Amino acid sequence: MYLLGVTGGIAAYKAAELARLFVRDEKEVQVVMTPGATRFITPLTFQTITGRPALVDQFWVSEGEKVRHIDLAGAAEVIVVAPATANTLGKMAAGIADNLLTTVYLAARCPVVLVPSMNEQMYLHPAVQENLARLRKHGCQIMEPASGELACGVSGKGRMPEPQQIAAFVRAVLTGKDYQGVRALVTAGPTREPLDPVRFISNRSTGLMGYAVARALVERGAEVILVSGPTALPCPAGAEPVVVETAEQMYTAVVERFEECDLVIKAAAVADYRPAVAAEQKLKKEFSRTMLELQPNPDILEELGRRKGERILVGFAMETEQAEVHAREKLQRKNLDLIVLNDLTVPGAGFASLTNQVCIINREGQAENLPMMPKELLAHRILDRVRPLLSAHSGGA
Ligand code: CTP
Repeated sequence: MYLLGVTGGIAAYKAAELARLFVRDEKEVQVVMTPGATRFITPLTFQTITGRPALVDQFWVSEGEKVRHIDLAGAAEVIVVAPATANTLGKMAAGIADNLLTTVYLAARCPVVLVPSMNEQMYLHPAVQENLARLRKHGCQIMEPASGELACGVSGKGRMPEPQQIAAFVRAVLTGKDYQGVRALVTAGPTREPLDPVRFISNRSTGLMGYAVARALVERGAEVILVSGPTALPCPAGAEPVVVETAEQMYTAVVERFEECDLVIKAAAVADYRPAVAAEQKLKKEFSRTMLELQPNPDILEELGRRKGERILVGFAMETEQAEVHAREKLQRKNLDLIVLNDLTVPGAGFASLTNQVCIINREGQAENLPMMPKELLAHRILDRVRPLLSAHSGGA
């Protein structure tokens, strides 16, 4: 049984559609509402969709039931709380059980998916962020809110993702630990190539895609090393962080650890060139015009392609024109098993975006276009395609 928790946020109306999607997937759905949620949507709506009364009362016990929250917790295959308000997240993080939903949550040992939804300022408040970090540590899967228009009239991060996306996220979470026994190395973020102690050459990568891949791998049971250039993101809990700055440092870090890995996913945006000389002192503006001499960085992935052996190698390609042609060429030249193509001309795809739209090309040359989706969901879709390749090799579980 899927237990859908609905809390008192304006997005509660979207939970009805989510319940409908679960029912359409032939799941039994039990809705548990907080008292606040009933101010936004009625239990009758959920009862009509799921065929079961939506439960609110913590102390009422029906015929045949022993202890309601324990029965519910035991029967739940997954708990999905959507929308999850700051209030409910805070209570869950602190272990407070003052309504049926928070009580069931504490008693349950099944996977828990939380979908925070609130005003951006509230979402970004350190109290909420600390609660989310704590809930992650407790094993909850948190689905990042989307950006867009919020009920309070402003635009920002905090919107509940669309029910379709939540349903897909839940499916991905329930896929299980299919990467257990796999040692994976992921690279993420940009590199920085110093000009002098103050300045550097870099690119627009934020690391979101690579971090999402690392997090998805941890969720699916892999041992993960995350080699990352400078980003503002926290290393996903459970992954081993290796922080680097330049392409050369990334090269050394990756090559050192490559031998012990079954799988390498290279999402980093590595600078192809670095300044030929990095000045020891800050460069002065003494010239009216000057030239910058650049020299090529090592191509990390190409080197891994040469040493590949039985390992699975996945690369990314960022293109602005003739995307597929260039991606296919990179797949061949770097001896990859899969290449994930980002076409930077597509709105909502690529750097700094929370969503991405990609095309995945395999060794046989087959190309699969995926729809636009949140990066964390895309990470799971990529892993779905990689998993069968691992089984064909000795590295897989
Ligand atoms: N890559 C790498 N080392 C480099 C450059 C790129 O390992 N010095 C990896 C990236 O992590 C990515 C893939 O190669 O997985 C493709 O990166 P991309 O920048 O699209 O391609 P390049 O090989 O740099 O080609 P170009 O800049 O000509 O498009």
